[in-house]
Amino acid sequence: MLHNLKAQPADKILALMAAYREDPRDTKVDLGVGVYKDASGNTPVMRAVKEAEKRLQKEQTTKAYVGLAGDPAFSDAMIGLILGDTIPRDRIAAVATPGGTGAIRQALELIKMAAPEATIWLSDPTWPNHPSIIKYLGLKSKTYRYFDKETRGVDYVGMLTDLGAMLPGDIVLLHGCCHNPTGANLTLPQWDGVIKRMQEKTAMPFIDIAYQGFGDGLAEDAAATRKITAAFDTVLIAGSCSKNFGIYRERTGIFMAIGKDAADTPLVQQNLNFLNRQNYSFPPDHGARVVTTILNDPDLRADWEAELEETRNGMLGLRKMLADELRRLTNSDRFDFLADHRGMFSQLGTTPERVEKLRADHGIYMVSDSRMNIAGLNAKTVPILAAAIVAAGI
Ligand code: LMR
Repeated sequence: MLHNLKAQPADKILALMAAYREDPRDTKVDLGVGVYKDASGNTPVMRAVKEAEKRLQKEQTTKAYVGLAGDPAFSDAMIGLILGDTIPRDRIAAVATPGGTGAIRQALELIKMAAPEATIWLSDPTWPNHPSIIKYLGLKSKTYRYFDKETRGVDYVGMLTDLGAMLPGDIVLLHGCCHNPTGANLTLPQWDGVIKRMQEKTAMPFIDIAYQGFGDGLAEDAAATRKITAAFDTVLIAGSCSKNFGIYRERTGIFMAIGKDAADTPLVQQNLNFLNRQNYSFPPDHGARVVTTILNDPDLRADWEAELEETRNGMLGLRKMLADELRRLTNSDRFDFLADHRGMFSQLGTTPERVEKLRADHGIYMVSDSRMNIAGLNAKTVPILAAAIVAAGI
């Protein structure tokens, strides 16, 4: 049987992680996978996470199974964090999932059960695992224009034009904030335009929100998600705690399916529980419990928010530093977009050949589509990167 297997396409982000590890140069710079790094290049455990883990260790008396949906307190806390009080709680079915990817997978599984013929519209570009899982599940997808290669901002007109071709019941996968890989984001008035277009076409939104708190702040980064949720009867949301709680390896995420009537929620919930059971039974609990502990304890929550704010400001500072240095070196404003982008990533908008040149000549690792992880930089590496960008003719 095993000889029937074919080699699977490598994920370009994970392949890059492996290549970086193998590079012996001690001057190498990792701007690949989306993991936050502090000024010394470490990915620390956040203070509130450490404290919540201490409390759990002391107070937890059992590791017995929880429930198929995970701890309901986690769902409540995450719904509060992402949606605030946008809609009544009883319209929302939710399950804990293994990370944001688990949530996306469950959302796509639900689409496969409920709307197998729908086309899922993806931004061009998007996180590579979106089309990969869609293809793996045999679902249909199309792309809409998103990134303007000239301005390195959003191609809003192109996006609306392409979404004009949607059929009723089609699904639009949107990045709630901090677009991955580009770093270019819609303004709130532009979100209104996208909402209008989806309503005209009776399309359904599916939001992937994995970087809440990394852009402009916790509430600001949830604003588009809340606006969309308020405007539609049916919304799917995949949320991740990997980045904003820094608990990448704990695999902590949430999938929410929002319906029009509270009366339908038990059936939707039962389907979400079924999907969890089929795919992995009970979702991971440790990270979810840490998150719940933090969000429900005013002191821990305040400390977490403060540390997240430091992280966010650190990334904004690096963006500005890089844009300023490139302004100085090129005597132009060509790279000012770096300071306007938000979140962990910015796409430089250059060719894979030039990205390869950065790696070969300077040991700078970014994804071949020229996505770089801004949080992988520090005050020492910013000038090195800026000089390399200029030397590579970008
Ligand atoms: C990324 O885009 O780098 C992260 O979301 C990590 C991953 O799993 O790809």
